[in-house]
Amino acid sequence: MNILVVGGGGREHAIIKKLIENPLVTHIYALPGNGGIASQAECVPIAATDIEGIVNFSKKNKIDFAVVSPDDPLVLGVVDRLSELSIPCFGPDKKAAAIEGSKVFAKELMKKYNIPTAAHEVFSKSHEALKYVETAPLPCVIKADGLAAGKGVIIANTLDEAREAICLIMDEQCFGKSGEYIVIEEFLTGPEISVLAFTDSKTIVPMVSSMDHKRALDGDKGLNTGGMGAIAPNPFYTKEIAAQCESEIFIPTMEAMKKEGRPFKGCLYFGLMLTENGPRVIEYNCRFGDPEAQAVLPLLKTDLLTIMRAVNEGNLQSVDISFSDNSSCCVILASKGYPQDFEKGKEITFSEDTDNKNMFIAGARLENGKLITSGGRVLGVTAVAQTLKEAIETAYCDSDKVDFANKYYRTDIGKKALEGKF
Ligand code: AMP
Ligand code: GLY
Repeated sequence: MNILVVGGGGREHAIIKKLIENPLVTHIYALPGNGGIASQAECVPIAATDIEGIVNFSKKNKIDFAVVSPDDPLVLGVVDRLSELSIPCFGPDKKAAAIEGSKVFAKELMKKYNIPTAAHEVFSKSHEALKYVETAPLPCVIKADGLAAGKGVIIANTLDEAREAICLIMDEQCFGKSGEYIVIEEFLTGPEISVLAFTDSKTIVPMVSSMDHKRALDGDKGLNTGGMGAIAPNPFYTKEIAAQCESEIFIPTMEAMKKEGRPFKGCLYFGLMLTENGPRVIEYNCRFGDPEAQAVLPLLKTDLLTIMRAVNEGNLQSVDISFSDNSSCCVILASKGYPQDFEKGKEITFSEDTDNKNMFIAGARLENGKLITSGGRVLGVTAVAQTLKEAIETAYCDSDKVDFANKYYRTDIGKKALEGKF
């Protein structure tokens, strides 16, 4: 089978390394892929946001199955376009991807179907939002409606910060059209849990839970990033909490999307917060999380392509999906300065005893056979072990086997999970 994978980060590398385990897979095209993905797939320099480019490439090359991984092409409707070419896809169509593409849509959906989340108000005019925050409890959370490269959420601790955020998003349009509408939300506290789930809109199968580490610096300090590491499973996600989430959040969300005429097929990501009053949805994503996928997929025992095809065919119920009982830890090695200014173009070297099975390249290109840094998040180093403690220790030990000038990583991935504190 010829497989097309849209995307080019660590998450896509983790997906591709799983897909090639299936002997039916003879060739993978990655659009655009990256220098590490090039070891498993043919990388074609077409951006994940270049919908016409992806469609034209798919017309010219025989594609048997497509996996659309990042948010932008999903929200832009690439699955609809590929389906018109009769190419079976893993990933939601445009109508279903709105669950991530519009925070207003997601919040209204949860309100309508009583899915537990933070209380919220929606605004389309900045003066009304500014008036509202005068009396709103602080801190409050201000969110741009549309996609904003993971930067569209601002936690305002003071009234001045709230005013500044509203002006930045709505008047100065720092996220462009994504800020035409904003959501102002109640601030919640508690441990965060990511649950990715396969769904064909009839059956929903949650994967092993995980925990992202979004801030750039140790102790959850510094700026928000795309994610500096992840562990799985998340120890805060007990069996009882899982059962509650399944009946109060996961199934109701799948059913709600169906009732709205937007059946969701693909990977539905639940960003949850475990508050004193129970689990609440913080955000939905219409795809695998990154770096969560780099921690979760190495624990998947069932063949990934089989699951993805069953999702596409509406046959998920027939697949027995299982995960190993082990734990995993993924440490992201980044370029120092990320998520702001950082240098690129540094050679990446690996010590001789490196096992790169669970190393996932994100920001690196190939130059004369050498891997050269080309992004902020350079690679993810995942270790799997019987205990979380061991997985963390091994991931850090393996991280020392990779070297490049400006290498930077957090030293406390998994610490909160291990200590049971948040
Ligand atoms: P997002 O970009 O949607 O992933 O949100 C980024 C982060 O903002 C989340 O991981 C939470 O840590 C935080 N956040 C979002 N909404 C809330 C909320 N209502 N209360 C507290 N923190 C929040
Ligand atoms: N790790 C969070 C995300 O993928 O959005």
